[in-house]
Amino acid sequence: MVLAFRCSPSTLHDWSGDALAVGLFSGDDGTAIRAALEQRYGIDLGQRLERRQFKAKPGECLTFEFPGANAASLVLVGLGAAADFGLDGLRRAAASAARAGAACGSGSLALALPVDGIDPEAAAMAMAEAVRLSLFADQRFKSEPEPRPLPSSVALLGLPESAGASLTTVAAVCSGVELARELVAAPPNVVTPQALADTAASIAASFGLELQVLERADCEALGMGSYLAVAQGSDLPPKFIHLTYRPSGPVTRRLALVGKGLTFDSGGYNLKTAGSQIEMMKYDMGGSGAVLGAMRAIAELRPEGVEVHMVVAACDNMISGGAIHPGAIVTASNGKTIEINNTDAEGRLTLADALVYASKLEPDAIVDLATLTGACLIALGEEIAGLWSPSDGLATALVSAAEQGGEALWRMPLRASYREGLKSGLADMKNTGPRPGGSITAALFLQDFVGPTIPWAHLDIAGTVWSDKGRGLDPAGATGFGVRTLVNWVLAGGMA
Ligand code: BES
Ligand code: MN
Ligand code: ZN
Repeated sequence: MVLAFRCSPSTLHDWSGDALAVGLFSGDDGTAIRAALEQRYGIDLGQRLERRQFKAKPGECLTFEFPGANAASLVLVGLGAAADFGLDGLRRAAASAARAGAACGSGSLALALPVDGIDPEAAAMAMAEAVRLSLFADQRFKSEPEPRPLPSSVALLGLPESAGASLTTVAAVCSGVELARELVAAPPNVVTPQALADTAASIAASFGLELQVLERADCEALGMGSYLAVAQGSDLPPKFIHLTYRPSGPVTRRLALVGKGLTFDSGGYNLKTAGSQIEMMKYDMGGSGAVLGAMRAIAELRPEGVEVHMVVAACDNMISGGAIHPGAIVTASNGKTIEINNTDAEGRLTLADALVYASKLEPDAIVDLATLTGACLIALGEEIAGLWSPSDGLATALVSAAEQGGEALWRMPLRASYREGLKSGLADMKNTGPRPGGSITAALFLQDFVGPTIPWAHLDIAGTVWSDKGRGLDPAGATGFGVRTLVNWVLAGGMA
């Protein structure tokens, strides 16, 4: 999507163009802006708002047309009470304004939203991100795509032109989010392990990154018995994908991003049953979508000092005569033996070997993202991803990177005593603990495959990867969750 953004010192009094979107606080807080609009359009705004019962609640939008006038479409965007308004409110307001402004069919759109007290660069980034991401639509699988009017230029009013320097970052990040959304939304017969490898190859070719794809035999040679056990039931060959960004200057930090890449999760012989949303399990590669999207953005932005490794053990979890038996015992590449008491806890089996591989790169930090457990979706819902990390520094850095990008993380406990639940009578461990605290035992399982001295964090994005109805900046469907958090964290130096 090509949208030209510009920071403009113009105001809602003097901007000229097609559609003007203006934010209004509820109650007395909106009085000055109301007066300015009455003057500009020569109307009794109070009367019009009353007639249409506009309360200026957050997200509420109202459009007025003034044919022939400059800024002939006026979009009013509710902001709620001024005291509750901040960067997140700005993001949501920009998204609503963009949708309403686009619906007017206007070529040039201006957003006049309150930015006082917010750092101008942060405000510009939040608004531009919100506009672009909320206008995204995926029509790849329609035989006849519907024409969609999009504004060609978007002016962010009340911001100095210098704040526009950050807008190139926004464009790269949004391309990354859009890539993640397209990968996650594509069906399992399109996004296969090979397709994920092809995506990595195309990023590598476009931006000059290094790519290594390990085939089944290579993984066997490395002893990845845990990952290959999941892959063995499928007709699609597994692809172990390692994509590397190297900065042009010296490297001060080496980071690893690991993504769960199950292009379909049937559950295996512990087959998913009715109500378990088996038909949605194309999104079980959401972690790999996020790390590929982040790599695309990082590759385009070329940050200095950080070397970034992306590792994805891609496969699908299927049933066949060759599929792994429930109860099988396998050996991971760090030598640990695992009794597979549930073939539907397959993500952690693939991540185990991916984390061992990432640890061998001796990074300064590892972050993994995975649609790992239904339990996390139940605990935190659709808007918040779970974060597990033994490192306070890494957890804090990720929470603030997420906040800066409008994504929400909540730190969950790595309670060591729950490790009991993974004890096996025969092998070193089982892959599945009891149902209570299921996302915690999943995180504890992963921890056993991370080098003991490497700061590591695990993000369970099972709830946030998809939104049936759409929310905030996310249209209904794949959200691309995780890309903004990862890119912000890497651009900030990948601190742990
Ligand atoms: N991919 C699923 C987790 C999932 C479930 C993501 C629902 C999004 C929505 C994962 O592989 C899985 O099946 N987990 C099991 C683990 C259980 C067998 C211990 C689960 O959550 O039920
Ligand atoms: Mn599963
Ligand atoms: Zn899964």
